[in-house]
Amino acid sequence: MPRIAYVNGRYVPHADAAVHIEDRGYQFADGVYEVVTVHGGHLVDEAGHVDRLDRSLRELSMAWPIGRRSLGLIMRELVRRNAVSDGMLYMQVSRGVAPRDFAFPTATATSLVMTVRRANLSSNQRVEQGVRVITIPDIRWKRRDIKSVSLLPQVLGKQKAREAGAFEAWQTDENGHVTEGCSSNAWIVTKDGVLTTRQPNHLILKGITRGSIMALAQKEGLHFEERPFSVEEAYDAQEAFLTSATTYALPIVQIDDRMIGDGRPGPMTMRLRDLYWRYATES
Ligand code: PDD
Repeated sequence: MPRIAYVNGRYVPHADAAVHIEDRGYQFADGVYEVVTVHGGHLVDEAGHVDRLDRSLRELSMAWPIGRRSLGLIMRELVRRNAVSDGMLYMQVSRGVAPRDFAFPTATATSLVMTVRRANLSSNQRVEQGVRVITIPDIRWKRRDIKSVSLLPQVLGKQKAREAGAFEAWQTDENGHVTEGCSSNAWIVTKDGVLTTRQPNHLILKGITRGSIMALAQKEGLHFEERPFSVEEAYDAQEAFLTSATTYALPIVQIDDRMIGDGRPGPMTMRLRDLYWRYATES
């Protein structure tokens, strides 16, 4: 069955899906995006992702391309047309097509594109064995709370991770504190057993998965703290993990050349992963 994409009001074969060469997303990275997991045919944390899209658009004074209700209908229709049960949906809004000029164009409609692809969400080697991360300096802009398509620093970071045989790169600020991964939020369980992740502000993306996992942890009565932690503290942690829409909670067993805990996925990480899995299945 051919894959179908959505481009500005039309469902088109994925192979033919294209935007104009003067789309501002292409020329200026003047756009925002969301990634939503499809789990058992439904969209996980849909409201959270659409709320964050709304916020990113507002922060950049970009108009909604269509109404919120229509966006929900298109997301569902695209999942249906591609017959995806488990996978991920990508959507991107750009400031639209206009002759190249840095300042905002007037009277240009924003563009909306959407794709869905299959992915295996179930238990796999990465979850069973845990993954490695490396640390790199955070060279991004100061509005990391906006889910912008301007991802070149993350592209370079992920490539560095790949070359080092790692799954992710944790970015660090000028104080040696971890900000977040290139496409995920960073967590540790400290030496004293406290679940810890950086507080959301302009310096990190406020992950939707992060928020849901925090709510689940709270319901379980788990103690957590939102504060920056250093790379050294992470090296000494009992557990480390990352969260994102595409990975849920994924255990980390090595940071740079340091083994975390006993080198196996930690119990609190796996408990949170199970809780989120159940939540994603039932939501
Ligand atoms: N990335 N931090 C960054 C920089 C991210 O790009 C992401 C998500 C997250 C986690 O956010 P969420 O839990 O809402 O997925 C944190 C997506 C998955 C991506 O770019 O593919």
